[in-house]
Amino acid sequence: MEEMHVLLRNKGKINPEDAGSYISAGGYEGLKKALKMTTEEIIDVVRESKLRGRGGAGFPTYKKIQFALNDAEPKYVVCNADEGEPGTNKDRILLSSDPCSIFEGMAIIGKAIGAHIGYIYMRAEYSYLVPILESALKTSREHGCLGENIMGSGFDFDIKLRSGAGAYVCGEETALFESIEGKRGEPRYRPPFPGVKGLFGKPTILNNVETLANIGPIFMNGADWFRSIGTEGSSGTKLFTVCGNVKRRGVFEFPMGINLKDLIYEVCGGLEEGRTLLAVQTGGASGAVINKDQIDVMLDIDHVSDSGGRLGCGTILVIDDSNCIVDIVRNNLDFFRDESCGKCTPCREGGTRLYELIDKLCQEKGNVKDLETIEDLAETMRLTALCGLGHSTAVPVLSSIQNFYEDYIKHIDKEGCPVCSQMGGKQA
Ligand SMILES: Cc1cc2nc3c(=O)[nH]c(=O)nc-3n(C[C@H](O)[C@H](O)[C@H](O)COP(=O)(O)O)c2cc1C
Ligand code: SF4
Repeated sequence: MEEMHVLLRNKGKINPEDAGSYISAGGYEGLKKALKMTTEEIIDVVRESKLRGRGGAGFPTYKKIQFALNDAEPKYVVCNADEGEPGTNKDRILLSSDPCSIFEGMAIIGKAIGAHIGYIYMRAEYSYLVPILESALKTSREHGCLGENIMGSGFDFDIKLRSGAGAYVCGEETALFESIEGKRGEPRYRPPFPGVKGLFGKPTILNNVETLANIGPIFMNGADWFRSIGTEGSSGTKLFTVCGNVKRRGVFEFPMGINLKDLIYEVCGGLEEGRTLLAVQTGGASGAVINKDQIDVMLDIDHVSDSGGRLGCGTILVIDDSNCIVDIVRNNLDFFRDESCGKCTPCREGGTRLYELIDKLCQEKGNVKDLETIEDLAETMRLTALCGLGHSTAVPVLSSIQNFYEDYIKHIDKEGCPVCSQMGGKQA
């Protein structure tokens, strides 16, 4: 199956450190058009494109722009390059191969809301990319595509880089603002929402790297062109990070709506010889675990959720029959309990208790009552945690109990789990 490269169109073809190279490939043409438009015209293009956020929630991008249209000054545009979801690599590919496409999207949104400063917040592990981005910023300014009076339009917009210290929760938008402000990265209570009171208490639009990288091509080629790619509810292409037990792992770009089964078996070459598929976790560690009968599904924002999965940031973990699903969920919980910031009780206490209970099952010391408590606790976290980290902790737990109930029961009754027994109940 042929990939469709919109976001990856320049990967390996241009020098990412040199804006001149990006411009020679048609870069900043979308910004040139947007600079001649009014706020309403820019919003119309984004609305008609039907672009939805690629950071996980799939929120319509034009609505965020509208939320920040108020009188408060200054305003900010923030790029979320925290990419903390385990196994996810897609934003790194864009940051390292085509950073100017991200700057272009930020500048267009800046023009729409009248922001003059943008921030790119990168996870600590991506610090090695800072020199590439600094050079791309410098050369973008030299070509008049960033800085004062961009392309003679009278509009000023520049971008600053900030690095995190290595916390998953800092990918949550309000914790990210706290971190940029030099505070401990903990989510804020909402409302107020970022469009009203975001970074430094000012109206802010925050988008994922991949969302922003789509904006330039939309303005260059038009909203109709963008909408013609993908599905009715999810236009454009999507970067999928496929990891786990497939022959060919990596980041692949396809129109939204590619079939999950085709992605696993045709694009990624299927599983190793002698192995069969046990499960797929869609959307990263915070995604749902579905079984092999549920994979004949279109990967876009709506269809995959209809079938019990979750597109999230597009990470697909393929799990073969050499694994135990309860152990996989225990691994997820180990991550979430470690990354909980501790601000709210359901997640601080619930995450650890959930881990302990699932660990007890893996050690084959659990009972049916424990399984009921696990479900109850996960549901409570889903409903009452302050931020998405706590809500997400519940997703793999509840979806795996729903789709792999027999596997859980195996850990409780006499049959036992061959994988966990072999590991002596220890985590893989
Ligand atoms: C715990 C947690 C971690 C998150 N990590 C990221 C991340 O690394 N990158 C990202 O773009 N969004 C992340 N998000 C989602 C953001 O809060 C936000 O919804 C997203 O960046 C919005 O961008 P979009 O509208 O372009 O999708 C995270 C959310 C939560 C709750
Ligand atoms: S849900 Fe977890 S990460 Fe989010 S605020 Fe509560 S304790 Fe912190």
